[in-house]
Amino acid sequence: IMNKHTLTLCAFLPFAASAAQFSVTSKPFGEIDGKSVELYTLSNESGAKVSITNYGGTVTSIVVPDKGGKMGDVVLGFDSVAEYVEKSPYFGCITGRYANRIANGKFTLDGKDYSVATNNDPNHLHGGLKGFDKKIWKARIGNMGDSPSLVLTYTSPDGEEGYPGTLNNSVTYTWTQDNALRIRYKSTTDKPTILNLTNHSYFNLAGEGDKTNLQHRVKINAEHYNPIDETSIPTGIAPVEGTPFDFRKPTQIGKRINEENEQLKNGKGYDHNFVLKKTDDGKLMTAAVVTEPTSGRILTVKTTEPGIQFYTGNFLDDLKGKGGKNYAHRSAFCLESQTFPDSPNQKEFPSPVLRPGETYSQVTVYHFGLKGNPQKKKNKN
Ligand code: BGC
Repeated sequence: IMNKHTLTLCAFLPFAASAAQFSVTSKPFGEIDGKSVELYTLSNESGAKVSITNYGGTVTSIVVPDKGGKMGDVVLGFDSVAEYVEKSPYFGCITGRYANRIANGKFTLDGKDYSVATNNDPNHLHGGLKGFDKKIWKARIGNMGDSPSLVLTYTSPDGEEGYPGTLNNSVTYTWTQDNALRIRYKSTTDKPTILNLTNHSYFNLAGEGDKTNLQHRVKINAEHYNPIDETSIPTGIAPVEGTPFDFRKPTQIGKRINEENEQLKNGKGYDHNFVLKKTDDGKLMTAAVVTEPTSGRILTVKTTEPGIQFYTGNFLDDLKGKGGKNYAHRSAFCLESQTFPDSPNQKEFPSPVLRPGETYSQVTVYHFGLKGNPQKKKNKN
């Protein structure tokens, strides 16, 4: 339904033989501190679509077909921005400046000590008290060939949340004709700083509100992972072989999640960074493939990042979400592309340092396919 605030952009590409169509619509999504927030919906020709609000750059829904052609929403979220402000456990947002944890909220850079909020006692989590997930980003509609996109920008002032440097950030979400959400991050700084951005979508490929994630079969392209201490800080790098963290072959989440295991105890389930097997740094490579048997949906995650946090919604606990649906314990999972948790304090981990003159750049793609229907070759993600 259109109202006077609704904006629609449709494209009919003139020269393509099979003119691909897409649309971008926007509508008000509520107000924060007197500022209005919008909800943008990017649809492709098949009618599959993604909705994103400029509050936190948050993906609020991803609607894709199941094997019977029935459309369904595969990410957890809320119907209003007020609920995101009030109770969101980082659903769908951009987390920054530093996604995941920094031990004791302390790090040293170029000989200078910095303190950031210990909002996940005793550690720093996801950028602090008012991280990127809680900022209103500037939004601009764009397109990449026959795919709609949304460009979000946010300038984080020097010292915000205790981090050094004025940081200029842009995050571009593109929704392709073959149902891939492509996220491109770019940031620059005017002082040496640290940075680790990710998208924190919670997926359930059977449809959001489904009561469990345990039936999903997960494959992760990692020979190693980061074991953690009782406060979820990495203690090093260890082989996955012979552990419940071996997802080199597709394995159901539920198969080993309840095993007696110190690491599963520390994470309350899976909540660990996997060290991605890379052949070429900076190249977009497959990090994980997740299949859901009932719906036939397959999620393929590709990233240029060295790590991915696999989190199985262990802290979800009967949260009321979209349409009043109940989001139960372990009813979704996250695959958060990243450098490693606590990298600022661990020399053997990839460096999260960004210096003036450099550009932080990351591409991560979430592709939604179907069993028996391989990703089309022509797609150039
Ligand atoms: C963290 C979890 C945390 C979740 C939601 C994940 O990235 O690793 O420990 O509970 O985000 O905040």
